[in-house]
Amino acid sequence: MKIISIVGARPNFMKIAPFCHAISASPTSIEHLLVHTGQHYDDKMSEAFFTSLSIPAADINLGVGSGTHAEQVGRTMIAIERVLIEEQPDWVVVVGDVNATAACSITAKKLGIRVAHIEAGLRSRDMSMPEEINRLVTDRISDLLLTPDRLSSENLIREGVDPESIVFTGNIMIDTLESQRDKAAKLDLNEIIDQNKLAEENSTTALEDGGYAVITLHRPSNVDSPETLMPLVRFFLDEVATDMPLVWPVHPRTKKNLQTFGLWDELVAHDNMLLVEPLGYHDLLRLNMGAKLMFTDSGGLQEECCVLGTPCLTLRWNTERPITLRENGGASVLVGNDISKIRAEYHHTLSAQRTPLRPELWDGHAAERMVEALIEANTR
Ligand code: UD1
Repeated sequence: MKIISIVGARPNFMKIAPFCHAISASPTSIEHLLVHTGQHYDDKMSEAFFTSLSIPAADINLGVGSGTHAEQVGRTMIAIERVLIEEQPDWVVVVGDVNATAACSITAKKLGIRVAHIEAGLRSRDMSMPEEINRLVTDRISDLLLTPDRLSSENLIREGVDPESIVFTGNIMIDTLESQRDKAAKLDLNEIIDQNKLAEENSTTALEDGGYAVITLHRPSNVDSPETLMPLVRFFLDEVATDMPLVWPVHPRTKKNLQTFGLWDELVAHDNMLLVEPLGYHDLLRLNMGAKLMFTDSGGLQEECCVLGTPCLTLRWNTERPITLRENGGASVLVGNDISKIRAEYHHTLSAQRTPLRPELWDGHAAERMVEALIEANTR
């Protein structure tokens, strides 16, 4: 069996790492090529994850880079088509919901190559999210749908997907978390800050476990307009930084916008606001383990907070990961970008305890089940 796996952007890397390792460990001989579309290309957004998670170097890099969605998807399709025609794999494996996922699944399917989707069945039902469009398109045409939880399998059944092609395998992100948490736990919080501080950041505030908050924001709905981003920054500076230090690993899209909207200098100058580069996997995991709370719009962090028990204010109005929500036993609560709602939940969360939750099959062995499912599907 010959498989080509695709990665494109940062959240793909922690999902593909255990899959690559499970393929190598499988007793069945599998020829595996890893293709990086190049959607994320900075060292801190990409290369650092390959090194720290021991992901084998990509066999092929398509170098598509930044651009509008159509530019990214179009360039990816043109480049991957050539690779697939040349390599003739039995399966293309795509992960998550980024532009690379949709672009490569469509291209493979039109060439008659079977597609397996890791993290199938997640639904936010928010069609203004590019990721939701990527999920719907990818799942609709996939031949093997590997789901992280039972709710996702049910979503697919409701949409009319053949139950034979759905396999509930568990959450592969948690494989990475489980295999890396001991290494992360040994890291020193203040060394992480020192090593990753932005050049212009000269705050000397020290962090203590349980005494700081972490912010990550990158969704266009939160960071692309000053009307939304400005009140968020005011809340962080005026109402949270007065209580505790905040660590903010700034995504490139967010940095650009904070600078354009004139918010950057005040953030840099504030002593309790620690601006750092996009962090490596272990550094962010360590910060999450010791955080009093998390403010995030990332899907992956909602899942990691769920397993670690970190109270998580999710700055979105919906989530494709309802299993992580407080009402389902998880640590996350949806607060959108309405400051009064964020404020109320922030105060509520200050007295909240860590409540780790381990959903079914989030057990560190999802990748092995995925490889088994592929081997089985290949015989059909
Ligand atoms: C993408 C994914 C999103 C994922 C996120 C994680 C899609 C539709 N979105 O969003 O699901 O949660 O990645 O980071 O695929 N940039 C750099 N260096 C890089 C990469 C990007 O400077 O290595 C800049 C580019 O100038 C670009 C901007 O960041 O304009 C946004 O990058 P892009 O890949 O378009 O989308 P993300 O917002 O990162």
